[in-house]
Amino acid sequence: MPVSRSPLPSPARCAALLIAALTLGCDAPDFERLGALTTDDLPPSPTNAWADDPQAAVLGRALFFDSRMSADGEVACASCHDPEHAFADPEAFSLGAFGRRGGRHAPTLLNVAFNDFQLWDGRADSLWAQPLKAIEAELEGDFTRTELAHFVAAEYSAAYAAVFGPLPDLSHLPSRAKPGDAAWAGMADADRDAVNRIAANVGKAIEAYERKLLCVDTAFDRFMLDGEDLGEQAMDGARDFLARGPGCADCHAGPNLSDQRFHNLGLDHEGTPDRGRADGVEALLNDPFNGVGAYSDDPTAGARRLAEVALGRPEDLGAFKTPGLRGVAQRDRFGHLGHETRLTAWIDDVYDRPGGRGRGGRRGGGDFVGQLSADFPDGNGNPRAIAAFLRTLDCPPLPDELLTPPDPSELPGASR
Ligand code: HEC
Ligand code: HEC
Repeated sequence: MPVSRSPLPSPARCAALLIAALTLGCDAPDFERLGALTTDDLPPSPTNAWADDPQAAVLGRALFFDSRMSADGEVACASCHDPEHAFADPEAFSLGAFGRRGGRHAPTLLNVAFNDFQLWDGRADSLWAQPLKAIEAELEGDFTRTELAHFVAAEYSAAYAAVFGPLPDLSHLPSRAKPGDAAWAGMADADRDAVNRIAANVGKAIEAYERKLLCVDTAFDRFMLDGEDLGEQAMDGARDFLARGPGCADCHAGPNLSDQRFHNLGLDHEGTPDRGRADGVEALLNDPFNGVGAYSDDPTAGARRLAEVALGRPEDLGAFKTPGLRGVAQRDRFGHLGHETRLTAWIDDVYDRPGGRGRGGRRGGGDFVGQLSADFPDGNGNPRAIAAFLRTLDCPPLPDELLTPPDPSELPGASR
């Protein structure tokens, strides 16, 4: 029998809803606006033919933890996306190679496979297009594209060949070259293409690993699927969270609690304005690694995702992606600035200021937020109750083997 996605009526739930309806006279929370999530709901990633290849995932896991894939040999993906901290950075802004610090917070990687767009400004339309950006960014890995190819050839050639086929001869290529510099411009077209393909495949292997970092089977899912009790305070919070007109679930909607869109909540970086999605759109459309580009394994599917992306939309200015909220209470910091460390403080400061003049941002009160707060009948509800509801979305621990790099003997193509 297929598992029903509708919440089963449990006596406790009915009682809680009834009491809520009688005492507060408002509608029962519409949990169907959120919904349960199981591993079966993992969306396909058609532009990556290796997305669900187990061998690629082992290679990707090795690369994720490998700090040699950076200019100073110190910075791995896991340095900023720490498995001990929900695959996010406990610091507001991360330290990249040579101790350089960026200007946006490194978010969690749990459930990133459910995002249509990656990064706060959505400048990657797939999980495989994203890694190269971190590897090459001067404030992150500061590696170059040919350096990455040489590194794969030196350290992972057997594993790479077992997954993607043999590497080309790279011995004649410059040691450090990337788009924008003279060394890259001086390379033959075919060589640039070969190096780009290796970079894309590094991303595809890493995506295969990241697709395993899931947050499903939470207390909330057991409530939705089996009618397990959430407790009174969490039910109160759910009612506030799901309040209409507008409310949290207008943006934090669906089973991963994100509308996959970009909004300006009026959180500004002190001094240096961040154009957010407006710049993200431009970068995405010009990215040779996007879903319609030469390295996509399904440009038709890639085009579908890009169909609604357009330059010059005023609402994209200063807008950032609505983050999913599964596991949110297990994160150390919130928002693209990572300036807030308490969940209740975030809810209170960012959303619950009459007229939207939040003090949570360096400057609160984007236009939309102003309207939003004013329309909440009674502030934004009770932040503590909302936080209690969000804690029902705490992630269960991941299998241990996803938290550490594989042993070299486990790599694809390893001689055993
Ligand atoms: C120096 C710190 C640092 C390193 C190293 C780093 N990241 Fe990140 N990561 C960040 C920051 C900061 C952001 C947010 C940047 C932005 O949105 O512009 C981010 C965002 C992301 C996102 C987007 C998540 C989302 O919900 O949008 C993914 C996926 C990701 N990183 C994966 C990786 C992988 C894979 C690697 C290794 C190849 C890596 N990162 C290396 C700091 C880092
Ligand atoms: C207009 C759309 C919108 C509404 C309504 C909304 N949010 Fe958000 N939420 C966002 C966006 C966008 C961000 C990221 C903002 C940023 O960093 O600039 C965010 C961030 C968050 C975060 C931080 C998560 C993280 O890991 O960084 C939490 C927690 C959160 N929202 C909870 C809520 C709650 C609770 C409500 C209702 C009181 C709510 N949101 C209403 C769009 C919205």
